[in-house]
Amino acid sequence: MRYLILCLGLLVAGNAATAVSNTASSTASAPLTTTLNITVEDLWNIYIGPVQSASINTTVEPTPIPSAQLIPPPQLYYPSYLPGAQIPGLGRNESWSFPKGFWWGVSGASYQVEGAVKVDGRGPSLWDAFTHRAMSVADNQTGDVAINEYYLYKQDIQRIAAMGVQAYSFSISWSRIFPFGNGPINEAGLQHYDDVINTCLEYGIQPQVTIYHWDLPLYLQLSYGGWTSPQIIDDYLAYARVLLERWGDKVSAWYTFNEPISFCGEYPVPDHYFTHTTTIPAIQQPYWCGHYMLLAAAKTYHLARSLNITAPISIKNSGGYKLPRTASPADTLAVQRAWAFNEGWFANPLFLGDYPPLLKNFTSSFLPEFTPEERTLIHGASDYFAHDAYTAAYYMAPDSGIEACLSDPSNSLYPKCYNSTYTLPDSEGGWLIGPASDPNTRWLHKATEWLPAFLHYIQDTWNPPNGIVITEFGMTEPFEAYKTKREDVLTDPLRSAYYHDYVQAMLMAVAEGVKLVGCSAWSIADNLEWTAGFTVKFGLQYVNLTTQERFYKASFFELARLFKTYMQD
Ligand SMILES: *[C@@H]1O[C@H](CO)[C@@H](O)[C@H](O)[C@H]1NC(C)=O
Ligand SMILES: *[C@@H]1O[C@H](CO)[C@@H](O)[C@H](O)[C@H]1NC(C)=O
Ligand SMILES: *[C@@H]1O[C@H](CO)[C@@H](O)[C@H](O)[C@H]1NC(C)=O
Ligand SMILES: *[C@@H]1O[C@H](CO)[C@@H](O)[C@H](O)[C@H]1NC(C)=O
Ligand SMILES: *[C@@H]1O[C@H](CO)[C@@H](O)[C@H](O)[C@H]1NC(C)=O
Ligand SMILES: *[C@@H]1O[C@H](CO)[C@@H](O)[C@H](O)[C@H]1NC(C)=O
Ligand SMILES: *[C@@H]1O[C@H](CO)[C@@H](O)[C@H](O)[C@H]1NC(C)=O
Ligand SMILES: *[C@@H]1O[C@H](CO)[C@@H](O)[C@H](O)[C@H]1NC(C)=O
Repeated sequence: MRYLILCLGLLVAGNAATAVSNTASSTASAPLTTTLNITVEDLWNIYIGPVQSASINTTVEPTPIPSAQLIPPPQLYYPSYLPGAQIPGLGRNESWSFPKGFWWGVSGASYQVEGAVKVDGRGPSLWDAFTHRAMSVADNQTGDVAINEYYLYKQDIQRIAAMGVQAYSFSISWSRIFPFGNGPINEAGLQHYDDVINTCLEYGIQPQVTIYHWDLPLYLQLSYGGWTSPQIIDDYLAYARVLLERWGDKVSAWYTFNEPISFCGEYPVPDHYFTHTTTIPAIQQPYWCGHYMLLAAAKTYHLARSLNITAPISIKNSGGYKLPRTASPADTLAVQRAWAFNEGWFANPLFLGDYPPLLKNFTSSFLPEFTPEERTLIHGASDYFAHDAYTAAYYMAPDSGIEACLSDPSNSLYPKCYNSTYTLPDSEGGWLIGPASDPNTRWLHKATEWLPAFLHYIQDTWNPPNGIVITEFGMTEPFEAYKTKREDVLTDPLRSAYYHDYVQAMLMAVAEGVKLVGCSAWSIADNLEWTAGFTVKFGLQYVNLTTQERFYKASFFELARLFKTYMQD
């Protein structure tokens, strides 16, 4: 596909020579206007270089699942590591059941699972550039092949259906649909997802679509700085429109964005690779990104309603439960700051009508106030409070105190001015908040006993009228990537215990009146965990990366068993 582009000289200055080898100077040349006549292949050659391809490179028809693979493991013994209300047991607790209509699913995301990055006209994305050129990824891994979901989705959908999964939550690769992010549409990309969605429906699985899961078309980053420019809003909207018009009657839930806290936090992008396309100071860039994201999400929400799409449309927010590390007022305030700078950043505008005051105190010096029209547009533009709620952590004031930090932009914690950790103070023994996951996912501990309080906090603080969806939860089994025997990998006691206790914690919260409408476990199968590569495993299925064969882990059976026990329908 060829695309005639009117663009700034920045792209010209930032082409091959600068992007590939220049690490010393990233100064932008004076803007000039020019016209480039470039192909998708040119983009790949200049900005990414050679990519790997998979040996399986046509769509595989599913074969029957070997019946031996569907035999659940013997019941596991769950050690009661932490005291609390959760009592392990196999019987049904008669006080518990999921509400009618509750659904459970499994999740994945395009760049992490698909592979086939140059196939059928796909353009490069920001993450192709990150893994190949701009970031350090464990073992130099990339998503070039990943778990080859692009060709293996039929088998994978059959495999989750066999486990009783009701929903598959996946994301669309923007640069498969618009190889440049805007401009010409690539029909082959659309046809691929036609087939993924139809295969879900054929197996009785609800397709749930995330429109944007971080893989920005690279061209949009190069030409105007991606999410730091307001131009992104209309380009995103045009892309979302294509998806909504094509699959509005088939998709059972839409997520406009995945974890904006994370992808806005990627700004400023590494300047040894990307030339400057914005004059916005580094510290402000994430907040401009968040501002444009909210406007794009809200416009998409109302566009979908104007197209008479009735499926729920939400933003996937992210973050763990926050506990004060000590009873001091400063640590209590640190917790409030952490809610404001994380969940509240997006949840307050969406559910309460404006940014949280603690955040605004910083952002109001540069972000514009939302106009009354914008406020109305954004307020209510997420049907559910959709949350990726994995874990919990302790929060405390910076060493220098909150006030000193707020008046000192050189403090490493500025402008957030809270600190966090996973351990209690030494005076209380220095214990972890819960068992650690893999050492390459330091942020993740099994802290399931805090989930009921977490869900109550969300409900009480933001009062989402349609309820809460847990859009991701999951665990990395420690050192799983080092295991060489399949049976060692498939027996995953920490992940099994996590899912067991997590589902019971959801049931407890539901019994206490929390309006929880569904949940989706991360992840359908082992996949590329961003810069941790394949060194950590989140899969409910093991993937042998040599053969691309999939095998169910014990935790998958545990998760399915609990839903079987407590679902009403
Ligand atoms: C773009 O390049 C192609 C191949 O070189 C050429 O056929 C086409 O005419 C060019 N288009 C324009 C508008 O220059
Ligand atoms: C598919 O793989 C085969 C060999 O494994 C190779 O000959 C062929 O060119 C590949 N096709 C594509 C479209 O990559
Ligand atoms: C990753 O790439 C760098 C730079 O090419 C190289 O020095 C290093 O040895 C590679 N590491 C691995 C694990 O392949
Ligand atoms: C949406 O529904 C309304 C009322 O039934 C109808 O007038 C309108 O044409 C529909 N719009 C689209 C895009 O289908
Ligand atoms: C608001 O920000 C100013 C610095 O810009 C700081 O001095 C003040 O303490 C902050 N107030 C709150 C409530 O965060
Ligand atoms: C944040 O907490 C860590 C661990 O307790 C501590 O080492 C560090 O100095 C703190 N950072 C700041 C800036 O207060
Ligand atoms: C993965 O597949 C390869 C090739 O069949 C095999 O040699 C290897 O043992 C498998 N790995 C595991 C952990 O099963
Ligand atoms: C059963 O559920 C109730 C309500 O959540 C809880 O209080 C009780 O501890 C549970 N009993 C067992 C044995 O898990």
